[in-house]
Amino acid sequence: MGVEVWLLLVVGVLMALAYSRWRHSYWSSRGVPTPPIIPFLGHIHALFLKGLKPLLYENEVYSKYGGSTFCGKYEMFRPILVVGDLELMKHITVKDFDYFTDRRNFTLTNEGDDVMNDMITNKTGNEWKTLRSIMTPTFTSGKMRGMYPLVCDKADDLVSFSLKEAANNPHIDMKHNFGRFTMDTIASCAFGIECNSFENENSEFPKAAASFFQLTWKRKLSIIFLITLPKVFKFFKLRFNPPSLDFFAEVVKETIAAREKGAKRGDFLDLLMEAGKDNPEKKQVLNYKSILAQSILFLIAGYDTTASTLAFASFFLAKNSTHQQHLRKELQGIVKEHGDLTYQGIMEAKFLDACLLETLRLYPPAPMLERQCTKDYQLPGTELKLHKGDIVQFPVWSIHHDPKYWPEPNEFRPHRFMPENRDNITTFTHMPFGLGPRNCIAMRFALMEAKVALGKMILAADLQLAPGYEEMEVEFGVGILRPKNGVNLILKPLSEE
Ligand code: HEM
Repeated sequence: MGVEVWLLLVVGVLMALAYSRWRHSYWSSRGVPTPPIIPFLGHIHALFLKGLKPLLYENEVYSKYGGSTFCGKYEMFRPILVVGDLELMKHITVKDFDYFTDRRNFTLTNEGDDVMNDMITNKTGNEWKTLRSIMTPTFTSGKMRGMYPLVCDKADDLVSFSLKEAANNPHIDMKHNFGRFTMDTIASCAFGIECNSFENENSEFPKAAASFFQLTWKRKLSIIFLITLPKVFKFFKLRFNPPSLDFFAEVVKETIAAREKGAKRGDFLDLLMEAGKDNPEKKQVLNYKSILAQSILFLIAGYDTTASTLAFASFFLAKNSTHQQHLRKELQGIVKEHGDLTYQGIMEAKFLDACLLETLRLYPPAPMLERQCTKDYQLPGTELKLHKGDIVQFPVWSIHHDPKYWPEPNEFRPHRFMPENRDNITTFTHMPFGLGPRNCIAMRFALMEAKVALGKMILAADLQLAPGYEEMEVEFGVGILRPKNGVNLILKPLSEE
């Protein structure tokens, strides 16, 4: 190569670096600190890290680079504001919610992903508000009570299947079994569909659900493309969802068709279909596509989050036999008092509640939350003005593990959440279900479901860690934290008293 070519190359590289530096000056020009920036990548490299490492990196951003108050990051050139200050979080998610009604929304152009554009998680502004008000009545306490017997049936299936499996194997993967349970439960409660994942080993449901959350390299790359180069993603019509989405779409389509002909069940699907009918009082109507989208979302959102929570909780209890025995005693007392594990009894089980809340603190399935600024906003008590479109992230994982709020943060200590200790918990430091009006719509359902399954398992068997599986390995993909290689436990059946 001649000198001119080298010179051109060097000038080209220098110009590219100058461009990257200029794009990465968004925060510094506003006086906002940032962790060390990698040219072009910004801070996106963390997404390539394995296991817990992306979250440990976020922890550094939080504790070393200002994230516990606020600091800036870049996903390639896209600026993100990390806000860990509790007062500011309260402003953004609750007090000034009108400025932050949305999450980051993606327009997916591949035909196979189309249904995702209509999901409530991806909706903005008034469209979100209307959808949310239509969907909210599905999760009132009256509805929960009505669904309780269905959830109990599925939990009984879980227990008998797990015990049978344990009788023939030295240890069993409870993450797998909890996944079957949550899939059967949500399908039954929301749609009246019987998946029978326990009876039918080859049931399509758990297979499709599992593949939805599998983080292949192709999937990881597609997520990175979607986040960093949405225009390229859109142009090439890349597909975000695995083909298992099509399976869920088919199931829901068939169920809607059957409902149109048949009797009502008063469940989630009925509510959506009623809202879709031409109703002069409700100006906004839900069309078929929207009903389909919300239904699929429920199957997806209701499966892995709750199954992972149950898997993590059973791991912690197997590891801490004192807590496990304490929980069993509480549950036995409830059965004695109420004759069974009734809805009321389960709601009164304080230690069961505490075990799940502590599990969700240690391993929140959604370890980061996001909001998008919808109109220019002056961050209270600061000089910083956020612009429409800016993304704000809340470091859930780091706050949940901050020793300032949680002494010995890595220890599983359910007693933190017992009523007598609740006053020691700082508001806004425990947010596994998100914050404010855009929090998890199904929190009540998820907790009820998890309590029934965990309660019944603990009453039926002693849980012990299997040799060689004493440490929890996690993966953080598709935005969700989950056990990487399942949760392998030995189940010792307990005789009924
Ligand atoms: C342990 C189980 C679960 C956890 C930890 C969890 C957590 C979350 C979190 C963190 C969010 C975002 C909240 C925010 O941005 O502030 C969310 C949203 C949502 N969740 Fe859950 N979730 C769980 C179970 C469920 C279940 C069982 C369903 C459905 C049956 C569900 C449906 C949804 C929906 C529809 C949204 C979007 C709400 C909106 O955008 O208005 N989740 N969930």
